[in-house]
Amino acid sequence: MEELELIPGLNRSAFGGPTTTTVTQLTHVSKVFLEPKRREVFTDVNMRVKRGEFVALAGPVGSGKTTLVNLLAGLDRPSSGSIQVLGRETTRISGRELTSLRLTSLGLVPQVQNLLQGFTVSQNVELPLFFLGGGGRESRLSRVQEVLGLLGINADAERKVADLSVGEKQLVSIARAMVKDPPLLVMDEPTESLDPLVSELILEMLRGDNALRAKTLIIATHDKRIIELATRTVRMSAKIQA
Ligand SMILES: Nc1ncnc2c1ncn2[C@@H]1O[C@H](COP(=O)(O)OP(=O)(O)OP(=O)(O)O)[C@@H](O)[C@H]1O
Ligand SMILES: [Mg+2]
Repeated sequence: MEELELIPGLNRSAFGGPTTTTVTQLTHVSKVFLEPKRREVFTDVNMRVKRGEFVALAGPVGSGKTTLVNLLAGLDRPSSGSIQVLGRETTRISGRELTSLRLTSLGLVPQVQNLLQGFTVSQNVELPLFFLGGGGRESRLSRVQEVLGLLGINADAERKVADLSVGEKQLVSIARAMVKDPPLLVMDEPTESLDPLVSELILEMLRGDNALRAKTLIIATHDKRIIELATRTVRMSAKIQA
């Protein structure tokens, strides 16, 4: 594990760094897709991620990283086993409770971006705050500006998402996940469409938040730099199925 140059001599414990609090736990989780043909993606996965951990989910194409991300984010249900996220058993709670948990506590950057194409960058990033409620428009916009500034895309605030490049959209997707400052960030290949310089800046920022503020990060990736920075790597293995 490597510390960032940005935070020399970092003493994690001095900043309330990692604790033993469980942020998410998978117990005997299996996922089988039945359509169009039965496909067992993984069987009996057990994984516990504690507060302040930075976990890289690595593994070959098709090994189940996105499937696992979708389960963690409550976008899909496991075929068996249980999943706990921030003290809630997501496999047992209602859809409404799940939506509320996602809204308050989880920032997701999906592999395939799902931004609202006809809306501006600023409107897209504001949306989670709007749904979360509390605080007026002004405080929402000031937070949006702050996050766009952190990601270096302030100048794009009033551009329509449909007009952006793939990499620019990726940054908006990251901004949207970060805007609520959630305790858990789950990202699926967040650096895939970014250039090395921007990618490094984003990773340093995420790593800083992780180390200094004990934000938990789970990132599915093929990016060697993320695997290098992570405090732990979970490797998924490909299943060859006939
Ligand atoms: N909704 C689905 N229905 C059927 N099969 C699926 C579905 N989603 C994923 N799969 C299959 O599950 C396997 C794992 O897919 P997944 O997208 O999780 O892989 P991945 O590790 O994220 O790959 P990549 O590195 O390309 O992003 C693949 O074989 C895929 O075809
Ligand atoms: Mg994937």
